[in-house]
Amino acid sequence: MVRKKLDYYVELRDSSKLSIYTLRVPFSRLYIVNSPSLISAVQRQHRTLAFWPLAIKAAANVGRFSNATMEVLSTNGYGDTFHDAIHPPLAPGENLDAMNRVMLGIVAASLNGLRKQQKTQVELLAWVTRQITIATTGATYGPDNPWRDPEFEAAFWTYKAGMSQLIMNVFPTWTAKGAIAALEFGASAFERYFKEEGHLKGSALVRARYAHSTANSMSVNDISRGEFTNGVALLSNTVPITFWVLYHIYSDPVIITECRSELRTIISDDSKNTIDMSKVKSDCPILLSTYKEVLRTYSTAVTARLVTEDHLLDGQYLLKKGGTILMPSPVQHTSDVWGDDKNAFNHRRFTRTGSQKTNPASFRAFGGGTTLCPGRHFATTEILAFVAVTILQFDIKPVSGQWMPPHTTFEFWEATKSPAKDFEVQIEPLEDTGTVGDWQFTLSGTDRPIELSAEDLK
Ligand code: HEM
Repeated sequence: MVRKKLDYYVELRDSSKLSIYTLRVPFSRLYIVNSPSLISAVQRQHRTLAFWPLAIKAAANVGRFSNATMEVLSTNGYGDTFHDAIHPPLAPGENLDAMNRVMLGIVAASLNGLRKQQKTQVELLAWVTRQITIATTGATYGPDNPWRDPEFEAAFWTYKAGMSQLIMNVFPTWTAKGAIAALEFGASAFERYFKEEGHLKGSALVRARYAHSTANSMSVNDISRGEFTNGVALLSNTVPITFWVLYHIYSDPVIITECRSELRTIISDDSKNTIDMSKVKSDCPILLSTYKEVLRTYSTAVTARLVTEDHLLDGQYLLKKGGTILMPSPVQHTSDVWGDDKNAFNHRRFTRTGSQKTNPASFRAFGGGTTLCPGRHFATTEILAFVAVTILQFDIKPVSGQWMPPHTTFEFWEATKSPAKDFEVQIEPLEDTGTVGDWQFTLSGTDRPIELSAEDLK
């Protein structure tokens, strides 16, 4: 398990052909679910097969909250009200539109600035990280965003690098010393932000999170710790997914030609530099499919649930109290439903229609059930916008002269693989973009929910 990581579950699926099986590990049972219909059965029993008890344990280790806050988090029903508070601001509608508009303005301004610099040499992952960080956090926290301070941003990445040690909690003051110092630094910055009422100028998301915490009598210091750790949800998947979409598009002449020409069809004659994000989602099936294929390929998400009392799943399988259920996305993302080319990167896979259409129940990059990622619509708009305006304006070439598939890496708690090593690229404006002027985005109408999980079909 340690050596093969998630590949171990994929191998066991292939060798056992079981719908669900038990792995005995010291002091616990792991129930690994392979069958999509049993995954739905697990997700339906969200009180008996619960996520929140697992979340509380992790929260205590990564947030290092006060005892008073840990008591609040452990109160019956807290998980439900938290869930109810954070989902609406991120659901398609007015609040998400407002957040999208700020994010799109930041993306456009940053890439317009880059075009004026002519040729630029950057490390691709570091560049994507900076761009996605300023756009995501700017849209979330508003004009007083603490992430604008480079020292704050550096502290966050130091913190993230020590997350595994914090979660494992073995002598953390020694094994995760740097991460703990970074958490204290980040929490103080957020404390100033909240005390100076920066959140009132921020998104509906940060206001909802703050209101829910104060309604539960949490101190500003603990709210600030929670907000700093929330950077992991905001960034840890969007950054590598954006990197991989750019990597696949630029490294394959077929994909870049198809994506560019489809994007050019949605740009109207009288506004050559305006991209309507609603049209990107409705009229650019190849770009959308490339994005989903990246999610399928690089997802390492493992949805987990604790068995809180003995339970007979689907009337057949006894799950014993105290066991942990794991539903690893790679098991679904490499199953036979994807066809003979399941192990290949096929950028047109998600354009298939009729009986060839991909099965949404087997696409789990955003998890599912009560823990389904609420940020999936925001992240999708952001990634598609960033990629669209980049490929329409710039050529990107590796300085080494050749695109080489990077080795990948991920920690046990991460939901997306990252490239193991960064590399230099040259970014150069395309010849015909110089005369067009600054690019901008519009959103005609409300952000429409697109199919990113089985739940989006309901
Ligand atoms: C491509 C980008 C993203 C991917 C692939 C992704 C993936 C995931 C996954 C796999 C989960 C766990 C689901 C489960 O356990 O069933 C999750 C949870 C979550 N995500 Fe995302 N995410 C992304 C972007 C975002 C963004 C931008 C935000 C915030 C604006 C966000 C907020 C959250 C939150 C708050 C949760 C916890 C939900 C809960 O436990 O109720 N995510 N995400």
